[in-house]
Amino acid sequence: MKRSDYCGCIGEADIGKVIVVCGWVHSCRNHGGVIFIDLRDREGILQIVIQPERKDIFKIAESLRNECVVAIEGIVQNRPKGTLNFNVSTGAVELVATNLEILNISSCLPFNISNYVEVCEELRLKYRYLDLRRTRLQKNFVTRHKIAQEIRKFFNENDFLEIETPFLTKSTPEGARDFLVPSRLNHGNFFALPQSPQIFKQILMISGFDKYYQFVRCFRDEDLRADRQPEFTQIDIEMSFITEEDIITIVEKMFMEVFKVILNVNIKLPFEKISYADAMLNYGSDKPDTRFEIKIKDFSEELKNNKFSIFSSAINNGGVVRGLCIPKGAACSRSEIDEFIKFVNEYGANGLSWMKVTDTGVESNIVKYFKLAELNEIILKFNAKSGDLIILLAGEEKIVAQGLGALRIKIGKKYNFIDKSKFNFLWVVDFPLVKWSKEENKWQSLHHPFTAPENEDFVTKENIGSAKAKAYDIILNGVEIGGGSIRIHKSNIQKKIFDILNISNESAVEKFGFLLDALTYGAPPHGGLALGFDRLCALILKEDSIREVIAFPKVQKATDPLSNAPTPVTDKQLKELGICVAAKVV
Ligand code: AMO
Repeated sequence: MKRSDYCGCIGEADIGKVIVVCGWVHSCRNHGGVIFIDLRDREGILQIVIQPERKDIFKIAESLRNECVVAIEGIVQNRPKGTLNFNVSTGAVELVATNLEILNISSCLPFNISNYVEVCEELRLKYRYLDLRRTRLQKNFVTRHKIAQEIRKFFNENDFLEIETPFLTKSTPEGARDFLVPSRLNHGNFFALPQSPQIFKQILMISGFDKYYQFVRCFRDEDLRADRQPEFTQIDIEMSFITEEDIITIVEKMFMEVFKVILNVNIKLPFEKISYADAMLNYGSDKPDTRFEIKIKDFSEELKNNKFSIFSSAINNGGVVRGLCIPKGAACSRSEIDEFIKFVNEYGANGLSWMKVTDTGVESNIVKYFKLAELNEIILKFNAKSGDLIILLAGEEKIVAQGLGALRIKIGKKYNFIDKSKFNFLWVVDFPLVKWSKEENKWQSLHHPFTAPENEDFVTKENIGSAKAKAYDIILNGVEIGGGSIRIHKSNIQKKIFDILNISNESAVEKFGFLLDALTYGAPPHGGLALGFDRLCALILKEDSIREVIAFPKVQKATDPLSNAPTPVTDKQLKELGICVAAKVV
């Protein structure tokens, strides 16, 4: 029997047709002498009817267990009145079997596939082939494929060229740790897997390829999170002779087209733009989730003479007092408030103050330290109403911003303030060029060292802390789905920036010499961006983790439960590579 159709594609238009379907037994039940099989393939589920008169195939059907693989020939007919199933696309029809062949049987399953039961992730990934059979994941990967095709179509139609860049490349750490690959032919030397094709795409611009894109795997040896994998896919873009606005416009247009085709959602252009400083002030994050209104407010001016010494001393020591107002939050229990306090403490904050807004004023144990005018200013700035809860946090600006930013998201989720139907895109712009690293006691690039400063001729070691970058991040629903910048295209400026970043000339030449050289041979002005494709797919599919849209993801400690990688290798392999493994460090 040769398959003629997919199970999930059969409908009323096929009534009367003789077809052959192949797939997995999703479920099998005997109802008063008639056997019903739900047969599943990539496209969906079709009900098969095995009538008792067909003694030959009935006997075979009786032996079927879930996940057996079968081929079935039959005639498509309407389901009898009253038995229609509106939950599946094929719910109006069924296939009356005339032939049935078992192509393979299945061992006893480690977890149930047909009745969705939560299974621990380790087990799901060990048997990923079974997990991937589940309807939700099948849909995820079909959609991931469609999103990729739409994005490719968009860039192809806009004259971009897809060019591949190497995976075995030079170690030029970009922030995360590199994955290293030992060279068999050059003992003691290592390739690195690329954290991104950043330098290569810049070199492609210098080579004259102008508009480039690539779906590319990137590798970063960093700790896993829901939206972080050690290997992930970027849609990498670079263009020459453009401004920030050109890149922003083309990316927005791409999203508009993709969301229309994939979700039939009309995305409004242009996306909102917010400066890095405003994002940190109002949302305590450089990736604000604007799907709910709650914003952080600053009271450092209003409370600088406040009698509550924790507040006034924080402000007078160069810190800030900022807060959040939770609508109807006054109903929070003491233990819920304690939970908030514990939560912000994890961000380095020391305690948190709160006030309940009532019909007659505000209530809390710190109210006595406040002048009426101070309280009124707080109420006014929040536009607080009776029944709201005001939370105030004092301390170092970075800690207060991050603590309140994270608390804002926690509260948004906990009290369902987030409108999950929304797709809120925004650009964060006007980033500082550098950040101060306390650990390394030096300035570090906020993006990467190839990012052009806003005013490249005027940056110096002295003013670098206040220099802005020609960089932009794109945020969707509070997730950073991409980032990019205009690049430095003159070698003298690139050298100057390396110098300011305390990268010695020697070390710059050793690490990035090939780029510095290339910049001297007529490098065009250029810039670009990279989008996190896995994150984008997860957001479109409303999945909480990118692991749900990656076929074979890694788990904590960056291991693969399916293949058990990483594993030790033989002494022979190590010898060929000139490598000796030190005793295991526990
Ligand atoms: P950046 O490091 O911001 O920029 O990466 C671009 C986007 O890639 C996604 N991303 C990740 N996704 C899953 N797992 C990870 N570990 C991970 N790390 C990053 C994010 C991020 O916004 N070369 C520059 C881009 C450029 O300047 O053009 C770069 O790689 O969505």
